[in-house]
Parts: sequence; structure tokens; C-alpha cells
Amino acid sequence: MTADGPTARAVGGTSHLIAVIPGDGIGLEVTEAAVSALRHVCSQTGVELTMKTYPWGSRFYLQTGEFIPEDGLDELNRAEAILFGAHGDPAVRDVLAAWGMILRLRQTYDQYVNLRPVRLLPGVESPLRVVEGDIDFAIVRENLEGELAGHGGVTGAAGPGGVATELTIVTRYGTERIADYAFELARRRRGLLTYVTKSNAIRHALGYWDDVILEVAQRYPDVTVDRLYVDAAAAELVRRPHTFDVLLCTSLHGDILSDLGAALVGGLGAVPSANLDPSRTHPSLFEPIHGSAPDIAGKGIANPTAAILSAAMLLDHIGETHAGELLRDAVCAVLADGEVRTRDFGGASTTRDFTDAVCAAVGRLGSAASATIAG
Ligand code: NAI
Ligand code: MG
Repeated sequence: MTADGPTARAVGGTSHLIAVIPGDGIGLEVTEAAVSALRHVCSQTGVELTMKTYPWGSRFYLQTGEFIPEDGLDELNRAEAILFGAHGDPAVRDVLAAWGMILRLRQTYDQYVNLRPVRLLPGVESPLRVVEGDIDFAIVRENLEGELAGHGGVTGAAGPGGVATELTIVTRYGTERIADYAFELARRRRGLLTYVTKSNAIRHALGYWDDVILEVAQRYPDVTVDRLYVDAAAAELVRRPHTFDVLLCTSLHGDILSDLGAALVGGLGAVPSANLDPSRTHPSLFEPIHGSAPDIAGKGIANPTAAILSAAMLLDHIGETHAGELLRDAVCAVLADGEVRTRDFGGASTTRDFTDAVCAAVGRLGSAASATIAG
């Protein structure tokens, strides 16, 4: 555990304590990029961060038998926010890593909102016939219940009578609070909320999901509400992505539709996310939506865009919106310029090349902004 970096210093005054967990595979590479971008934008804007890095994840598990050490959760709870890379290593069963890392962190810190802004960035090509500005929607995914709540079991696995269940959990409490978050977000955006369901078939759990959302909708008469079954939503997102503003989804539906959304805006390397505890009782966690990508890990070619944009969301969350905006502008400037882009975005640049270009753009745009203010 190290306190590192030129912007790091003892916590006190206005310094924000940020826990950094790079995790596994390309999580290490894209988090290094995000940390570097954070350092640049913070030194440019005078924001003070104390970043503490933790080696937790699958490699740590292989060495110690634990994904996160026993006192680790208390330690993280002291941070203002967490920057996370990805978990997943071919040597460790995925289900162990998921429940040892991200699902555990989300549940421990009551991060019931998973916010995933899907936006076609300047200079990035979509497989659809659309241009920048055409795709700009936010997936609000219920993060703790639904299909990923973890309730269930297996009996008689080895025999002919083997039975497995995985319960979908929908509670009034959980649905009301995620719906409130999504409606409030829609109010701040373009005022359209589409809730995604499958209540025609999954009648009890998702029927109740629909009912509670429609009750909450009464409190937001200024927001237009639409409903789509998840299968139709997959088709409509491809057919008319420009019409979507906020999509409210259960955990599994949101997971699937966000990878579809990412594919529409250039791939998994393009979409950041926040796992939020809006009450701020616990730290919120910021991560790209992609995994550890073992197929390209260690090659230095991962796209760090999603990780850097996740760091920008972190800055917004801790109140440093000016720095967050500068970082987003720098990413957009590099992408719009088009000279430096990673392979998944159609270029030949490395993770490091792109990160360096973003850091340089932070310096350029930050200095230009100060000159304008001074002038
Ligand atoms: P993945 O997101 O890691 O990769 C899917 C495909 O997208 C791969 O071809 C990969 O090379 C590409 N890709 C992903 N991110 C990229 C980036 N930044 N730049 C360029 N290409 C990128 O998903 P996959 O393959 O299903 O899972 C791999 C591992 O990651 C598994 O162990 C899985 O459990 C874990 N995982 C972890 C998540 C997390 O930490 N929150 C989320 C999803 C998967
Ligand atoms: Mg996913």
C-alpha cells in the first residue's frame, strides 16, 4: 500500500483520499493511465488528491487466498472514493473473482446506483450510420438486487435430481430508490425515462418492478415515461439510439444493454461508470464497464478512454467538477484530433501514447483556460 504521486500528500485540509484498486489484466494498464491523467489534471487545477494503491484482486488471491484482506473493507471505507480497474484472471474462476471483488464492494458500500453514460465521442466511429451527438444516453442500472442479488442454491448437483435456483429479488425499497435516482437524472437531462422490463413473462418480480416505478413516476410529472421489454429494447437501441435519454434497468438487463450500448459507441473501451452510494455514507466506486480482457492484457494496447472518463466521473463526485470537465475535454480533444487513437478505435497507438496525448491536452486546455480568465 503506497501513497504515491506528485499530487499526493498527507490527508488534511482539502486533500481528497482516493483508494486505487487496479485489479487484474488490463485493469492494471488502464488504471495506470487513469492515475496519470488524474495527476495531470489535478496539478493543472490545484486539486489535491491522496491516492493509495491496493494490490487486491485475482493475483493477490493466488498469493494469499483472499481477494481483499480482512481489514481491507474498513480501510477502503475511509476513502472518499474508489478508482477500480477490472478483475478476472484465467487462473481463477470468474465467479470467485466477481463475488470476491466488484459484487462484494458494491454490496458492502451500498452502491445501489450503477450509472453508465453511453456517448458517441468526437472522432469515434459507430458501426451505425450516426454522427457525434446522435448517441447520448445514460443507463441507470439497479446494482444490488434483481437477477444479480446472489440468492439461490444447488442441491443434488451430481445426481439426476440436481436442481439449481437463482432468485430475482425486487423490493419496494430497492426499486423506489433507484427509480428516484433515475427520474431525478432524467429531469437534469432531456426529461425522458425509459424503463426496461420483462414483466410479460417474469410476472411477479418484474411486474412489481413496473408497478413501483409507475408509482414513483407520479412524483415526476415533468418526466416523460416510456416502457420497453428488454428484448425490444435491444433492437430499438440499434434502430433509434438517438431517441434514448435515461434507461432504467434491473442488474442483469442493465449489464447486457450497456455492452450493447458500448458497441454502438466504438466498443467496451469507450464507456465509463460509477457505482454510487448517493447517501455518501460509504465511498462510491468508479470503473470502466469492461473486464480484464485477458486476450490483450500485458500488450500495452488497451484503450484507457473508459478508465480515464471514469476518473473524470470520480472528480465530479468529489465536487471537483472543473477538473472533471477539463479531463473530459482533453479526452475529446485527442479523439477529435484523430492522430492518436488505440486499435479498437481504428488507430495504432498504445495505451501509453493515448494517455500521454490526453495529459498533454490537459496542459494545453488548462493553460488556455487560465489565460482566458486572466485576459
Ligand atoms: P472484457 O470486457 O474483459 O473483454 C471483452 C472484449 O473486449 C475482449 O475482446 C477485450 O479485448 C475487449 N476489450 C475490453 N476492454 C477493452 C479496452 N479497454 N480496450 C480494448 N479492448 C477492450 O470481457 P470478457 O472477455 O467477457 O471477460 C474477461 C474477464 O473480465 C473475465 O474474467 C470476466 O469475469 C472479467 N470481467 C470483469 C468485470 C469487472 O471487473 N467489473 C466486468 C466484466 C468482465
Ligand atoms: Mg458487464
